[in-house]
Amino acid sequence: MSDEFAGRLAFITGGASGIGLATGQVLAERGMKVVLADIDETALERAERSVPGARGIVLDVTDRDAWTAALDEAEAAFGPLAMLFCNAGVAGSRLSIADTSIEGWEWTRSILLDGVFHGLNLGVPRLLASGKPGHVVATASIGGLIAMAGNGVYGGMKAAVIAMCEALRLELAETQVNASVLLPGLVSTNILDENRKRKPDGIFVGDEEPELEAAMHASMDPRQVGEIVANAIGTDRFWLFTHPELRDMVAQRSQEIDEAYAAQA
Ligand code: NAI
Repeated sequence: MSDEFAGRLAFITGGASGIGLATGQVLAERGMKVVLADIDETALERAERSVPGARGIVLDVTDRDAWTAALDEAEAAFGPLAMLFCNAGVAGSRLSIADTSIEGWEWTRSILLDGVFHGLNLGVPRLLASGKPGHVVATASIGGLIAMAGNGVYGGMKAAVIAMCEALRLELAETQVNASVLLPGLVSTNILDENRKRKPDGIFVGDEEPELEAAMHASMDPRQVGEIVANAIGTDRFWLFTHPELRDMVAQRSQEIDEAYAAQA
């Protein structure tokens, strides 16, 4: 992390748990003033106590007015925004494209896509207004680049987040604000186990997935992801990958695209 960020405000959504909380811990240790924003009040109270000097703000990222109020509150407490981490997420619909209900689609989209758009749309002008170096990071997923059956709704949202961030990087090219996109592989968090509790009543988003949940709990410590994010702040590193072993799968996809072009030539 560049020194210019110490003592300044980092605003993290999904900050009460997993990757967001771990990143908050790392940034606080490196001297940033951390706001953890999350919809889950109980988890937020616990999280706030575990990050020195942090402030918890209740925020539903799908609520645009609440975003403005939360950013106002954060800046009133800790000064102008220096780092924005649009990270809140759910696993969303775990059903195939054909089986996903419109309600399951809309719930997933409201958090993973609309929630990120609101954050970028309302937060980036504040980063620019500070007149100092700034950094914006959004959490996509390697699932936005590598397709898996049953992951099409989630992967579709994450692919859109990648595309938005790529455009944002170009839009910010002549400014002091850098953009990055985070593409984690499996990280040990509660995102899958909590999914059925977080979904609105009356919609079906999929059955329990005990094998995947077990694999997730045996996977990467979120702290490692927090370090990757923190290390990128103030640099021009755009693609933040967490699992080098997935590189070949991304390369295979690129190769397939290349071959399709060649076949049409
Ligand atoms: P997590 O479940 O530990 O944390 C997600 C946080 O987002 C929770 O505290 C939850 O309360 C909050 N949240 C959910 N809906 C919200 C809303 N409407 N408004 C505000 N906060 C809300 O999960 P994790 O894994 O730390 O997820 C963070 C991000 O990482 C998500 O965007 C997820 O899609 C992404 N990701 C996670 C991977 C993993 O293997 N854990 C892999 C790839 C991406």
